[in-house]
Amino acid sequence: MNLAIFGATGQVGQVMAQILIERDYPVDSIRFFASSRSKGKLLDFKGQIIEVEDADEGNFNGIDIALFSCGAAASKIYAPKVAEKGGIVIDNSSCFRQDPNVPLVVPEVNSHTLNDIPLNIVANPNCTTMVAMPPLKILHDLWGLKKMVATTFQAVSGSGKAGVDELSNQLTGYTGNLSDLAFDGAAVDFGTPNKFPKIAALNVIPMAGSFLDDGSNVTSEELKLVNESRKILDIPNLIVSATCTRVSVMTGHSLSLTLTFEDQTDIEQATKALSNKDYIVLDNVPTPHTAAGKDPSYVGRIRHATNDLHELSLFVVGDNLRKGAALNAVQIAEVLAKR
Ligand SMILES: NC(=O)c1ccc[n+]([C@@H]2O[C@H](COP(=O)([O-])OP(=O)(O)OC[C@H]3O[C@@H](n4cnc5c(N)ncnc54)[C@H](OP(=O)(O)O)[C@@H]3O)[C@@H](O)[C@H]2O)c1
Repeated sequence: MNLAIFGATGQVGQVMAQILIERDYPVDSIRFFASSRSKGKLLDFKGQIIEVEDADEGNFNGIDIALFSCGAAASKIYAPKVAEKGGIVIDNSSCFRQDPNVPLVVPEVNSHTLNDIPLNIVANPNCTTMVAMPPLKILHDLWGLKKMVATTFQAVSGSGKAGVDELSNQLTGYTGNLSDLAFDGAAVDFGTPNKFPKIAALNVIPMAGSFLDDGSNVTSEELKLVNESRKILDIPNLIVSATCTRVSVMTGHSLSLTLTFEDQTDIEQATKALSNKDYIVLDNVPTPHTAAGKDPSYVGRIRHATNDLHELSLFVVGDNLRKGAALNAVQIAEVLAKR
């Protein structure tokens, strides 16, 4: 396969290249694209030095599959150009996810939707939704999912390298004594936040993404969780109540989920069904440190939190850069390569 990675210099692009190598993806040739800022930068791929091309100057002939992780604005410009030349785009941005002609794919859940790719574009779900989809599909198949109440705890790497840099700088460049924060939230000066609306270090910010401009006080990340869960699980009427927060974690998105089903649930049955899959690991107290750098979704705290047996609560954690972005894109590319 002749591959291209758009956003090759970014966090997700780098993990994509690494995962292609780890999984021994059949690569005949690979091209790396980024913005003009990175033109000419040299990147290693399996010992081969590849020069980064400016996507704006790109000639996109001969690309079989293009993995995109360069943000929605750039995807909107370049993805149709690659698709027009016959390449299949697997896009990590939010740009095409709700387009009815673009499959939104998690291979463990709905790989059949890859049978029809009318625009030559496939969308990769957002990193938070993605982590929850594999276990939710299994539970939905058992009892019929009707409603999901989700609170997310999202890592700063979900906001790109700039998010990681901001938290790192706050954690290393602060003035004051950290232990004084126990008594006074202003005791430490972490500098002025830029990427996030409040200080990310040792904190919880009860908003991720941006507020919608409809006055609803809902954020873009919350809307993605609603819309993408419905599309991937093929439950158009799924009721979703989402609260997305940003926390002082580098990588690993966590979700606390309370699910309501058509039928009564059973903890033993849920545990057994989830433990049968190699892409899910049961760990009763999973944390982002458990998940960062790993492929599976980690599931714990499975319980009946109320005495309504139609409800089931659980906690899910996954690596937002791997399964949440790069790994899922490569898995889609694997399905396409087999065909
Ligand atoms: N981080 C996550 O957990 C995650 C999860 C799911 C999806 N995504 C998606 O993946 C994208 C990248 O995430 P990231 O964490 O890798 O961000 P990042 O580290 O900030 O990297 C962004 C990449 O996009 C390139 N880029 C930016 N503007 C461009 C343009 N106009 N034309 C061509 N290339 C351009 C950058 O190139 P330069 O180096 O030249 O600036 C860089 O390679 C996000 O915007 C999002 O859509 C991210």
